[in-house]
Amino acid sequence: MVLLENDGTLPLKGTGKLALYGSGARNTIKGGTGSGDVNVRHFVTVEEGLKNAGFEITTKGWLDAYDQVREDAKKAFFGGLRKEAEAAGVTGERMMFYAMGKACPEPEYELALEGEGETAVYVLARNSGEGADRTPAAGDINLTETEIRDILALNEKYDKFVLVLNVGGMIDLKPVKAVKTVLILGQLGSATGDALADVLLGKSYPSGKLTMTWAPIGDYASTEGFGDPNDTYYKEGIYVGYRYFDTIGYVPTYPFGYGMGYTTFNVEPKEMTADASKVSVTATVTNTGSAAGKEVVQAYYSAPAGKLDKPYQELAGYVKTGELAPGESQDVTVTFDTESMASYCTGCASYVMEEGTYYVRVGNCSRNTHIAGAIALDESKAVEKVKNICGESGFEDLKPAGTPITYAGEEEEKANAKVIAIKASDLTVKEVSYQEVPAEIPAGPSVKWEEVISGAKSMDEFVAGLSDEQLAYLCIGAYKESDDFMEVIGNASKGVAGAAGETTRKLEELGTPALVMADGPAGLRLAQSYKVVDGAAKALSSSLAGDFMAMLTPEEIQAMAAKAPQPSEEEKAAPVYYQYCVAIPIGTGIAQSWNDELAKKCGDLVGEEMEMFGTHLWLAPAMNIYRSPLCGRNFEYYSEDPHLSGCIAAGITDGVQVHEGCATTIKHYACNNQETNRYFSNSNVGERALREIYLKGFEICIRKSQPHFIMTSYNLINGEHACSTKDIQTFTLRDEWGFKGVVMTDWLVTGGMGPKGDKWPCASCAGNVKAGNDITMPGIPSDKADIMKALTDPTHPYALTRAELQLSAKRVLDMIRKLA
Ligand code: BGC
Repeated sequence: MVLLENDGTLPLKGTGKLALYGSGARNTIKGGTGSGDVNVRHFVTVEEGLKNAGFEITTKGWLDAYDQVREDAKKAFFGGLRKEAEAAGVTGERMMFYAMGKACPEPEYELALEGEGETAVYVLARNSGEGADRTPAAGDINLTETEIRDILALNEKYDKFVLVLNVGGMIDLKPVKAVKTVLILGQLGSATGDALADVLLGKSYPSGKLTMTWAPIGDYASTEGFGDPNDTYYKEGIYVGYRYFDTIGYVPTYPFGYGMGYTTFNVEPKEMTADASKVSVTATVTNTGSAAGKEVVQAYYSAPAGKLDKPYQELAGYVKTGELAPGESQDVTVTFDTESMASYCTGCASYVMEEGTYYVRVGNCSRNTHIAGAIALDESKAVEKVKNICGESGFEDLKPAGTPITYAGEEEEKANAKVIAIKASDLTVKEVSYQEVPAEIPAGPSVKWEEVISGAKSMDEFVAGLSDEQLAYLCIGAYKESDDFMEVIGNASKGVAGAAGETTRKLEELGTPALVMADGPAGLRLAQSYKVVDGAAKALSSSLAGDFMAMLTPEEIQAMAAKAPQPSEEEKAAPVYYQYCVAIPIGTGIAQSWNDELAKKCGDLVGEEMEMFGTHLWLAPAMNIYRSPLCGRNFEYYSEDPHLSGCIAAGITDGVQVHEGCATTIKHYACNNQETNRYFSNSNVGERALREIYLKGFEICIRKSQPHFIMTSYNLINGEHACSTKDIQTFTLRDEWGFKGVVMTDWLVTGGMGPKGDKWPCASCAGNVKAGNDITMPGIPSDKADIMKALTDPTHPYALTRAELQLSAKRVLDMIRKLA
């Protein structure tokens, strides 16, 4: 949790009468909607958590009345949505996808605020999810009139008042600035309500920090043009989040890296060492308050502007202290690669360290740092030579005007900073060798899988024995003969009920098993109950949440149920099995800990469940950059900063992949920064921003923890589907960063679940293989047809050789051998 304000109200002195209000009090959100939702047995709401802790809730009347208001609002909202869908020509089951991710905005209402007690807690909630973006309107990013009125009234009425935010992203708090105790509870999964009670009572304490800048929505450089269905222009270039706000000298509502505790800390730069390889900066952290706590030491660098403009500062690393008692100190060292301070020069297709002075800053928030030392580089040098990728954006990136932030004493600190000289000639130059597709493996006799496992035959011999069709199956997920994609949404695995997908079972005749994939990132998304029929798991409920159903009339739901095949006698008699999963905190929640070890623990917990339920791949962590607070999936992601995103994703991956046979699938690669028209949305982005901001987190995660899988995104980049772009699916990913695993697409990128876009086409399955994207998920008949055509028709836009198909198929087989 992140404590934004505290006038001494928190921690509360004890339990007693408590007036509890707000949308999240009873209807607490444990995590957003969509594939990131987790089907838990039960999770603890705020009301329940506070009662468990011994509070006497005095506002049952208000909470009951609010339930009614909310029910009515939802009915009206989904009714309106249905009309909209009908007007757009959407009918039948596709209606559900029209509703996807669209959250009913907070309604306006008037209910008396009469709860007894000297303390009031108002829990403000917001929900969002895949398929739709957030809106810059009241009830979503902005507060409603009702919320502003009630929050300000409660702030006056009660001796102690706490505003608790049960949100997954930014909301504009400017209208309630008068409130002096504000806590971001976030959406913490199964334990949400109990965790809040612990923190309110001081049994635990907040030590989280914001992973994005909070400001009124109109002030982000990315807001203009956000959500265009066809083309989004990333004109702000590298100036995303604090890189923008710091450089233009803007005062946000809350800065990046900010968060209080129940105590105070002093972070004092102690020493800095640096050479051509590493920079290390040590700070002494002292607990200067009267309660225990943990602090996050954040190190930033300010690179010198040269031919390339530079942001005021960029995050280089961070370390969280252990728990410090009042008066206690700890020395903390943040170490980072010297060359991580290089910038991308598109003109020279290289990462370049420009000559001049690099200042290293250390502190506990982007707006509270001090200079720890400086590095003087004698000459500019290209430290990694690569090739340019992903075409042209068609515009010049922003070079912000304005004066960057500063603070009292900054110039003096600069003048007095210890300067370490580094010679450009000592920096190492990384050369990349871009690989060719290996020669075709000549056809050979059919080989059994067990011969590969025993070592009697090589994988090449196994591949040699496969027909074109078998190779194609390996590259299209659990291929279903039917065109009805409804069959494969949320319930696509024979192995584990409710899992999102599998690799092919078409090679079972050779003994090759399938890999089972289940969603994340807030835990493992499976169906809660199932039966085993004919050796296959059959879910008894959809793993998708109820709001989808809210679009349909009761008659339609009945008709859908009637269409489902009637259970056989054997099925009726089969026992019911249950598989309840734990919901961990949403991505934002984990990242707000700024604690890689905690991220690892979360991964470890999921890995344990994966072993328990028999899933090989977790379709997580999700790690797109918060380009804008409006992105409907930010809650699944980590940060506006790629370094933080990459490190948290690496921590989670390490936690999962210690479990044998378990792998992460980092997603959605790349530039999936809006949900509106997500299958057909083109992200127009300059190369420097692409490499320094949008690919960087993936690169860091891969270099640190080597996740076994990566999922590509739906969107296009500069006019080509990201999933079919060899530049990022092979050149950066495998050749530059050394990714050793398998690439797969996001679901139905070649078919589309929603309405078709009016500008851009669907992706091509053959195009994916050609790019080095090994598996098109979940696998539909046209995918196989596309591959078979591309193998034989040289005029196919992505004509394929058998060698290219073998390369992808072999990578899938290698991973099956490793994990299954
Ligand atoms: C989502 C992915 C998810 C996949 C499988 C897609 O709609 O974008 O994040 O992993 O479905 O459920």
